[in-house]
Amino acid sequence: MSKIKVAVLGATGAVGQRFVQLLDKHPWFEVTALTGSDRTVGQIYGDACRWVLNEPMPDYVRSMRVVPTEPGLDAAITFSALPSDQAKAIEPAFARAGHGVCSNASSYRMELDVPLLIPEVNPDHTALINVQRRQRHWSGFIATNPNCTSTGFTIAFRPLHDAFGIRRAFVVSMQALSGAGYPGVASLDIVDNVIPYVSGEESKVESEPCKMLGQLNESHVVDASIKISAHTNRVTVIDGHTVCVSLEFDRPIGPREAAQAMADFKAPSIVQTLPSSPRCVIEVRSEADRPQPRKDRDAGKGMTTVVGRVREDPLFHVKFVVLSHNTIRGAAGGSILNAELLVAQGIVS
Ligand SMILES: NC(=O)c1ccc[n+]([C@@H]2O[C@H](COP(=O)([O-])OP(=O)(O)OC[C@H]3O[C@@H](n4cnc5c(N)ncnc54)[C@H](OP(=O)(O)O)[C@@H]3O)[C@@H](O)[C@H]2O)c1
Repeated sequence: MSKIKVAVLGATGAVGQRFVQLLDKHPWFEVTALTGSDRTVGQIYGDACRWVLNEPMPDYVRSMRVVPTEPGLDAAITFSALPSDQAKAIEPAFARAGHGVCSNASSYRMELDVPLLIPEVNPDHTALINVQRRQRHWSGFIATNPNCTSTGFTIAFRPLHDAFGIRRAFVVSMQALSGAGYPGVASLDIVDNVIPYVSGEESKVESEPCKMLGQLNESHVVDASIKISAHTNRVTVIDGHTVCVSLEFDRPIGPREAAQAMADFKAPSIVQTLPSSPRCVIEVRSEADRPQPRKDRDAGKGMTTVVGRVREDPLFHVKFVVLSHNTIRGAAGGSILNAELLVAQGIVS
């Protein structure tokens, strides 16, 4: 098939750069436009962008010119890596103009008619796009992916909730610096330190998983009735969010059953064949000291969720540690997988 034209909105930032890197030689998508703010519009991408990734900047973008973030780009899909304040006004303008917007921003995640998607968790929620188009009279649409801290543990929760019913979750994050974008947290604040506050994060981590694990009815999702309590912390790790999780289920279960359910988890068949789909959705490790960001964040090219230290919890039933690459699985890679799902479902062509 001929490739589908896509654009990256906010292509110069931390998540925008990941899109640029992951879309290099993508089998289905071809990048036709890169956008930025007034700060970079008109410049050559190679000059405009302070490249922060370890992987080299792909050749195809070096001499592309950064264009204004305005609808009318030659792109069926626009990947949005815009700050939420900007996304609030810009993303609907793109959807109204007929673009499909696959967004990383939080602005529309919890709107009733907007899918909040992880293909392995809730691929059926894309049906909300029809509701959205009807209600908002848009020829395009907005589909979102969750906050990068919720992503990994929501994937781990899917098989556990299906098999045993999760009632209550206590989660504590150790979030990487790249989660704050570029330049992000000042070095004098974070070196030799842990910051026990990530602005706006705890409410997202306590609500977004319930929408994703909820049941779709005709016009919206009925949230899963899981009570989540979150502490979110920033630590001196470059990439990879670690989350310590304690869970209470409808009936007491042990660590062996929980570990088996996660290790056996398979993505729905439509998801398994997508180009960015990891072969292993959840890797369960048995070592006493894994997962670790430096050693495990690149599992499955950054798309696999790594779980370890599955053990009994004296207060709840089971506890474990989850690691997920925040700019890949939790942002650009997750958003590209969403777009691939929408193509496979015939929603974008
Ligand atoms: N970092 C993560 O791990 C992560 C994970 C999940 C979700 N997210 C979400 O993804 C989005 C991007 O995050 P980030 O970490 O990449 O932020 P970032 O590094 O600060 O990048 C922001 C990008 O948005 C552009 N931009 C800023 N103001 C704009 C405007 N008025 N019009 C057009 N473009 C504008 C910037 O362009 P210029 O360079 O031209 O100014 C830059 O390309 C945020 O909504 C964030 O919450 C981030």
